[in-house]
Amino acid sequence: MTNNHEYVHGYSERENQRLIDQATTLTELLHNDTKYPPGTVVLEAGCGVGAQTITLVKNSPKANFICVDISEKSLKEAQCRVESAGFCNAKFQKADLFHLPFEDNFFDHIFVCFVLEHLKKPLDVLLSLKKKLKPGGSITVIEGDHGSAYFYPDSRYARQAIQCLIDLQAEKGGDSLIGRRMYPLMCEAGFNNVSVSPRMVYVDSSKPEYVEGFTKNTFTAMVEGVGEEAIGAELMDTMEWEKGISDLYRTAEKDGTFCYTFFKAVAYK
Ligand SMILES: C[S@@+](CC[C@H](N)C(=O)[O-])C[C@H]1O[C@@H](n2cnc3c(N)ncnc32)[C@H](O)[C@@H]1O
Repeated sequence: MTNNHEYVHGYSERENQRLIDQATTLTELLHNDTKYPPGTVVLEAGCGVGAQTITLVKNSPKANFICVDISEKSLKEAQCRVESAGFCNAKFQKADLFHLPFEDNFFDHIFVCFVLEHLKKPLDVLLSLKKKLKPGGSITVIEGDHGSAYFYPDSRYARQAIQCLIDLQAEKGGDSLIGRRMYPLMCEAGFNNVSVSPRMVYVDSSKPEYVEGFTKNTFTAMVEGVGEEAIGAELMDTMEWEKGISDLYRTAEKDGTFCYTFFKAVAYK
């Protein structure tokens, strides 16, 4: 990891499990229109522990994936996950997205998910990726936007806790509101035919798998993860924080609801 382009999220077991829960719950919503033709070479940039890789290789079994990440530990876990599921169309390689060890114009397609929001210079990554993409090739980028979260029952404390996460990520140079910026960013990077589609997750108790997989284990777990930091930085006191988190869990009860929007951009070189 280089200092300039520091990755501002964590590698804890809990964070890894959260990424898996998120990917499993959101597979259909985020991946249903991503299929790569046989024989094409696809870069998955920032594959992490392989939470998305497993769906990519399954949905495009005859495409060849090269999955890179800066964390060797995550790459090993990703490789294990994909191989033990019986897929052999992905290779894993340690690489820094800012210094990719491939020739220019090498990849037919590029896929990036939940990476840009954690980087200080998302535009620079897009420019670096664009160099490695063949003319006419596609890039798909999926990001969240924490400002898109709303829920019932509403709670000032829950909103404040989410804002802590947004502020702490911004302090480290990340942007957890990047979803709404996808169109201008992709255009600024010089991609053509940019199209961005919002993918809204709406959860109520008629969808118990989303209540568990998204409201509790993905979103609330993510907010909960910055508790110590938020209290330490005196953004909220302990009682306010605990009320915020318990109000987020409250939205997962029988009469609660939760909404969040991801943004999926597809563009071409
Ligand atoms: C939040 S994780 C997302 C992982 C995966 N795409 C997913 O959706 O589950 C972000 C990943 O980006 C990787 N990353 C951050 N900066 C990077 C860089 N400069 N080069 C390569 N990978 C990087 C991190 O190591 C981490 O695994």
